[in-house]
Amino acid sequence: MKRILRHQRHIFTFCFGAGLALVIIALWPDSSSQPTFKHPVVEAQDGGSSNPTAKQPTGNNAYCAVCHSQEGRTVALADGTSLDLHVTPDAVADSVHGTSNSQETLGCVDCHGESAFPHVEARPESSREFTIKMSQVCTDCHVDEAQANADGVHAHGLANGNLRAAVCVDCHGAHDVQHIKDQPQLAAETCGTCHTSIFDEYKQSIHGEALLVNGDTNAPTCITCHGVHGISTPTTAQFRNRSPELCASCHADKKLMAKYDISTSVFDTYLNEFHGTTVALFEQEDPNAASNKAVCYDCHGVHNITPANNSKSQVAKQNLLATCQQCHPDASSDFPDAWVGHFEPSRTQHPLVYVVDLFYKILIPGVLSGFVFLVATDIFARTKHVGGRKKSAPPPKEGHTESAKPEKEG
Ligand code: HEC
Ligand code: HEC
Ligand code: HEC
Ligand code: HEC
Ligand code: HEC
Ligand code: HEC
Ligand code: HEC
Ligand code: HEC
Ligand code: HEC
Repeated sequence: MKRILRHQRHIFTFCFGAGLALVIIALWPDSSSQPTFKHPVVEAQDGGSSNPTAKQPTGNNAYCAVCHSQEGRTVALADGTSLDLHVTPDAVADSVHGTSNSQETLGCVDCHGESAFPHVEARPESSREFTIKMSQVCTDCHVDEAQANADGVHAHGLANGNLRAAVCVDCHGAHDVQHIKDQPQLAAETCGTCHTSIFDEYKQSIHGEALLVNGDTNAPTCITCHGVHGISTPTTAQFRNRSPELCASCHADKKLMAKYDISTSVFDTYLNEFHGTTVALFEQEDPNAASNKAVCYDCHGVHNITPANNSKSQVAKQNLLATCQQCHPDASSDFPDAWVGHFEPSRTQHPLVYVVDLFYKILIPGVLSGFVFLVATDIFARTKHVGGRKKSAPPPKEGHTESAKPEKEG
């Protein structure tokens, strides 16, 4: 009995599968041939007119949708790529251009132009060329972003013939544009679609892990450090000299860093040591002058920053020497000890430095205040003597004031 039942089930599954396959084959669009569009909906809509091209588009999305809401239609381009012609009005209606309070849903013709149909323009050569050309429409309405973007690395790359450089549509999409502002995770993933290896590194860094795994938006995302539309080349001397301030914007913020129990003296101590002082001077005198002194990321890395106690960290004990050797090739194993690190010297951290430091901290103010005391008492003594005489009286003899000193001290 059980076996027959199982048999029946197999037969049923077979029949159902075969039926479904037939239906799919029958309905599957033939994408290799030219798309041929039926116009039944238009005929129904405009009262039986048999010629859809006679009707000019008027911003009526339904008109374009007659053909473009048909799934599976593609058109082959000269370079072997293709365009997927399936675009529904819903996609636009659900995007920022449909849901925003400040406006009506954008119509197809707002971006594709009043004369979008009939399609008389030459078919694009390649889908990439089409995307780049079509991104121009975004600039008509979003003037500020477009202006910033024109000064950025991607626009420059494009102008120099690198067609892979990002354009509006790469980062935002075309019909399904969504809010991306203040969504640092999404921003990182967007950049990561092209900068894949940097994204992978970043994802495993302390910053990337904080943001992408723990959802902690205090951590920097790609655009925190690089900007968005006007991204400048990060490998210039200017970017390098300014970078300590970039890190400091968070790492010198006491309230923020207290949450993570991370020392904020890193920036001050850096500025006080030989590397930092020089970089700061370079930055002040000529931000474009190259400095070979270490900045934060020379020691910590950039997209791969991890805490010092992580064995992968460039500043982990076992890797520190190699890090210093990038610039101090002759450094020996005790070389890193020459640098007191970010910590203020203390009785436990670098005790010798601490003691010398303490000695100077006591000695110098001690000597100075003794000096000030002597000078002050001297002035006091002089003015007392002057004040005690009549205004017309001649100034006191040198010997007189000097003799006042022992009086005071006594
Ligand atoms: C009668 C069917 C039909 C209608 C109506 C129609 N299109 Fe098309 N559309 C096509 C076909 C077919 C193609 C492929 C053209 C080709 O061979 O390159 C296409 C291609 C496109 C392309 C790709 C770029 C190109 O030129 O190949 C865009 C963009 C487009 N249509 C937008 C629109 C818009 C906007 C509307 C409404 C104003 C619209 N279409 C109305 C059939 C239609
Ligand atoms: C916000 C502007 C905007 C609106 C509104 C818009 N489009 Fe587009 N459309 C674009 C851009 C930009 C591209 C190029 C996209 C790409 O290359 O990835 C494009 C590409 C297309 C294509 C070519 C296939 C593709 O997806 O690349 C078709 C077809 C198309 N649009 C039809 C429509 C139809 C139909 C509507 C109305 C329902 C519409 N568009 C509304 C901007 C828009
Ligand atoms: C016809 C004008 C027009 C065109 C063309 C246009 N947009 Fe918009 N866009 C708007 C308007 C209006 C808003 C809503 C502004 C608002 O809510 O403050 C908007 C909103 C946006 C937003 C959301 C802003 C936010 O507050 O988060 C993004 C992102 C965006 N557009 C990107 C694009 C991209 C990418 C293109 C090209 C594919 C494009 N737009 C084409 C008019 C346009
Ligand atoms: C390399 C990716 C990238 C490119 C290229 C790009 N954007 Fe953006 N855009 C973003 C990101 C990420 C944000 C979110 C910024 C934020 O969170 O502050 C954004 C924000 C926006 C906003 C919303 C700004 C606001 O204040 O509400 C608009 C509008 C916009 N972009 C339009 C454009 C236009 C137009 C272009 C082409 C000229 C363009 N973008 C090119 C990544 C990009
Ligand atoms: C569509 C792919 C793509 C996307 C998305 C993209 N980029 Fe790029 N990016 C490139 C290409 C290609 C270049 C090289 C341009 C050139 O030829 O100079 C580049 C260059 C850069 C550079 C300069 C590199 C250098 O050595 O000078 C930086 C920085 C950069 N991108 C950051 C970003 C950030 C941040 C984002 C996200 C907001 C982003 N990119 C999104 C493709 C992309
Ligand atoms: C904490 C700040 C910071 C964050 C976060 C950050 N970057 Fe960078 N990025 C830098 C610095 C600094 C440099 C310059 C490094 C150098 O000169 O060696 C750089 C260099 C680059 C370069 C060009 C050099 C190269 O290695 O090709 C690209 C492209 C880039 N970053 C993309 C990204 C992307 C994509 C993300 C997000 C996944 C990101 N960055 C996150 C600070 C940052
Ligand atoms: C937008 C703020 C921000 C910026 C900019 C930033 N950081 Fe961070 N950084 C953080 C936060 C938040 C953490 C703690 C993340 C956690 O522990 O989950 C952190 C952690 C670290 C750590 C690990 C500390 C430890 O021992 O736990 C190092 C090292 C570090 N950052 C170095 C840098 C360097 C170098 C730069 C500049 C290239 C930089 N950061 C830029 C916010 C920032
Ligand atoms: C990006 C390159 C770079 C890195 C990385 C670097 N330094 Fe330096 N450092 C310099 C330069 C340049 C000087 C100045 C040398 C001079 O003026 O003779 C310097 C000077 C010094 C000095 C002063 C004494 C001297 O030799 O002039 C010490 C100590 C020092 N570095 C320690 C370190 C330690 C420890 C590390 C690793 C934790 C390190 N440095 C990593 C570039 C670097
Ligand atoms: C010459 C190499 C070097 C430079 C330059 C450097 N660091 Fe460090 N940093 C280290 C080392 C080594 C450690 C681990 C031991 C220590 O804290 O002294 C460290 C530790 C840290 C920590 C962890 C502190 C904690 O509380 O656990 C942070 C955060 C940090 N550095 C940020 C920065 C920032 C921001 C800059 C630039 C302003 C910078 N570093 C410049 C080598 C360097």
